[in-house]
Amino acid sequence: MQTITLPHSDLTITRMTFGAWAIVGGFNWGHQEEKDSLAALQEAYEQGITFFDTAQAYGNGASEQMIHQALGDVYDKIVIATKIVPDDFGYEDVKRACEARIQALQSDHLDLLQLHWPNPDIPVEETMRALVDLKQEGKIRAFGVSNFGKQDLTEALEVTKEISSNQLPYNLLWRAIEFDILPLCEKHQIPVLSYSSIMQGLLAGKFSNPQEVPDDRARSRHFSSERSQARHSEGGQETLTFEAIAQIKQIAEREDIPMASLSMAWLIAQPGMGSIIVGARNPQQVRDNVAAMQVSLSDQLVEELNEVTRPLKEALGSNADMWQSDSRIH
Ligand SMILES: NC(=O)c1ccc[n+]([C@@H]2O[C@H](COP(=O)([O-])OP(=O)(O)OC[C@H]3O[C@@H](n4cnc5c(N)ncnc54)[C@H](OP(=O)(O)O)[C@@H]3O)[C@@H](O)[C@H]2O)c1
Repeated sequence: MQTITLPHSDLTITRMTFGAWAIVGGFNWGHQEEKDSLAALQEAYEQGITFFDTAQAYGNGASEQMIHQALGDVYDKIVIATKIVPDDFGYEDVKRACEARIQALQSDHLDLLQLHWPNPDIPVEETMRALVDLKQEGKIRAFGVSNFGKQDLTEALEVTKEISSNQLPYNLLWRAIEFDILPLCEKHQIPVLSYSSIMQGLLAGKFSNPQEVPDDRARSRHFSSERSQARHSEGGQETLTFEAIAQIKQIAEREDIPMASLSMAWLIAQPGMGSIIVGARNPQQVRDNVAAMQVSLSDQLVEELNEVTRPLKEALGSNADMWQSDSRIH
């Protein structure tokens, strides 16, 4: 498994990250058996993934607790990224929230602490200062941001240059960060950690038309705002989305590469990418996803995938927020 070292840190991470949101089930994901979740985490480690992404928001600590249960014995061999919620971005709140995450993970420090979403109501200077202090105190080994667009990232960088990562939505069906955010991250050498890397299963080819996608997975701006769980106000891009899916599927069949693997191989080939975060709900999905790391695409194939998804990219535009129209993430 390929690795990189996160800047401003001594953390070596694998270029595939296990995303530990879906393993708690519930919102967005429905029923999930705990034994499958624990087995998926252990399989990821056995398959060579040593970077795990979690958050307070994933089951209010349940995901972090599961990571401890499955992998507590190998904490010295893995790197865990967690996140705190925007309500906790005041100076003292960051410190308190950090302690709470340490407790949920039953550790004595955090590896990578991320700010889950920007909070325009709290001065970013206060939040970043708390992160810098926590790092100096040895409570965290590095800090990163998530869902920070041009404006928020620029403001955060004015406080400290020590930002080790920016976690953003990125996949073949969601290329909004390519307009401005990804170039800015590259300029400052901040690796991107991509989330929803297979677009919550859409890029695994399990749905062939919008009607097949359950409402709680059809919240993104690909789908009409008439879907019951939608928080945006747009008509959606269902036709372009499913045209792109059909074309990617055709290319995958022609190349004899599973569609999800092809999509992940495209993603890892993009400049500025640090690690691709992929969720998995059972050991088989983990094995299938890890296999994608062996796939390498020719420049020509990458360009062909760029071309078939360009109309969707242009139609969705530079708003990188998958769920809201009125967003700061540009
Ligand atoms: N920072 C943020 O705001 C943010 C937001 C979202 C996610 N994230 C992070 O990113 C991670 C990944 O993103 P995501 O969970 O949104 O989506 P994702 O990784 O694109 O999709 C994961 C889902 O796809 C399905 N799947 C996985 N492997 C598969 C395979 N080989 N074949 C077929 N289906 C497969 C599984 O669901 P089914 O089996 O149910 O189809 C799985 O839960 C999360 O776990 C979380 O760590 C961060």
